[in-house]
Amino acid sequence: IFYQVYPQSFYDSNGDGIGDIPGLIEKLDYIQWLGCNAVWMNPCFDSPFNDAGYDVRDFYKVAPRYGTNADLKRLFKEAHKRDMRVLLDLVPAHTSADHPWFVQSCRPDKNKYTHWYLWTDSAWSWQKEGFSLIRGASDRNGCYLPSFFASQPALNLGFARPDPKQPWQLPVDHPDVKAVRREIKSILRFWLDAGADGFRADMASSVVKNDPGWKETSRFWREVRDLLDKHYTEAALLSEWSTPSAAIAAGFHADFMIHINDTAYDALFRQEIWRNHWTRRNAPSFFDKQGKGDITAFLKPFLNYQAKIRRKGHICVPSGNHDISRLAYGRSSRELELAFAFLMTLPALPLVYYGDEIGMKYLRHLHSKEGGYERTGSRTPMQWTGGKNAGFSTAPKNKLYLPVDSAPGAPNVEKQSRKNDSLLNRVRQLIQLRRSAPALGRDGKLTLLCAERGKYPLVYLRRAGRQRYLVVLNPSGQDQTATVILTAKEKPKKLIGRGRIDFLPHGRRTNLIAGPSGYGIFQISDGD
Ligand code: GLC
Ligand code: CA
Repeated sequence: IFYQVYPQSFYDSNGDGIGDIPGLIEKLDYIQWLGCNAVWMNPCFDSPFNDAGYDVRDFYKVAPRYGTNADLKRLFKEAHKRDMRVLLDLVPAHTSADHPWFVQSCRPDKNKYTHWYLWTDSAWSWQKEGFSLIRGASDRNGCYLPSFFASQPALNLGFARPDPKQPWQLPVDHPDVKAVRREIKSILRFWLDAGADGFRADMASSVVKNDPGWKETSRFWREVRDLLDKHYTEAALLSEWSTPSAAIAAGFHADFMIHINDTAYDALFRQEIWRNHWTRRNAPSFFDKQGKGDITAFLKPFLNYQAKIRRKGHICVPSGNHDISRLAYGRSSRELELAFAFLMTLPALPLVYYGDEIGMKYLRHLHSKEGGYERTGSRTPMQWTGGKNAGFSTAPKNKLYLPVDSAPGAPNVEKQSRKNDSLLNRVRQLIQLRRSAPALGRDGKLTLLCAERGKYPLVYLRRAGRQRYLVVLNPSGQDQTATVILTAKEKPKKLIGRGRIDFLPHGRRTNLIAGPSGYGIFQISDGD
């Protein structure tokens, strides 16, 4: 069970207003208490921070604001002591424009790094089919291809189908392309040798250009996986790809189903963000109390991916991440609990985005920070206590990385940990339940009992051996009914839940009534 840490916003140990690695080490006990056993930390490497660290200037060095390489090694050790794992963020598609490789690549004279990035052959050829290029960046007579922002020039991992009329497009077996690929593997080895447990790979699906069907992209990642299988058999690779069938075939151990590549994930929680440019307005996500969503828009692709990757890899379905609005956007803490009940009973790897476990809000009206734009509101400091700066930092308020949520009654860990039925304690119980019952975990069998297009509630069974659990979820704001095949002898015993879930046995069937925003996880005994 993953916990995602945005390092600059998690815990500031030295009072400079920015979260850091020693701070994260101090909070490992908290993450362990919550029940998560793996941490993925966003990029923590040296960077000018034009894209919050996704613009790396030195892949081999921790950014001073987060600490030192020695601190990062200590994080690995401290995590391992607690039987936890740490994944770093690997950014193979681009570097910062300030990276010394790019600085060299910008020079008009030919050098080792001339072909490490994607440059056209003239400063005046900035309009190439399918690419938006940057012109006038340096004295080199050419335009470069940015990977994300202009400050993130794309590294040259080659073109799957170079256009013969555009000789600047190098094939994947060009010696300079191979050199770039070797360098990426050496970054990986460097941190695995230092004690890291693996990587989340940024923009994993777009490292090779003009690659229909991801053929060459997959070949590259397969090489990376082979390296792990040979030398680092315990290490894990998790991709930002959002097409698990392709990512697992390419060698990843797990892939996120998130907001990119298709709309399956959005259909659960976030249909609203793309439709309305981050403004929530009556859009029908399934986990929405309007009750107008469609669970099959998620489940169909999910089950389809599951069938394709069986026994080869996993899907990770997160509560959120640093690129999308928070789960709490437009939801009460009761609705959040219900969403977590779903995430913790799916046959997928769950991930808790820091702060979602207490229902941290999406702060909509903040100024952009470090290339965050709308994403900034999901990146604010973790709220630990009701004290100064929510216990995130002792720095003066104006020195904080981002403002803390100052709303009266804003959630915090201290307050919620004392209240038995707070969101935090409920999420913790759900995690504990999942960890204690293999049937609820990634390998238990999933049988849908009621999961129809446009209908509520969602009802399913999870099973492993003789263990059986029934999950009933009604995110809508009204009573909902369903009929499931369950005899009177099969008594559901409630383990956790909220609101009304009534069972009315009726021969071989049972009629079920789920109250507004009600959910329940039940153990089913055979009655004998
Ligand atoms: C990924 C990251 C995002 C970043 C982008 C460019 O989508 O999650 O935060 O801006 O890649 O590296
Ligand atoms: Ca700090």
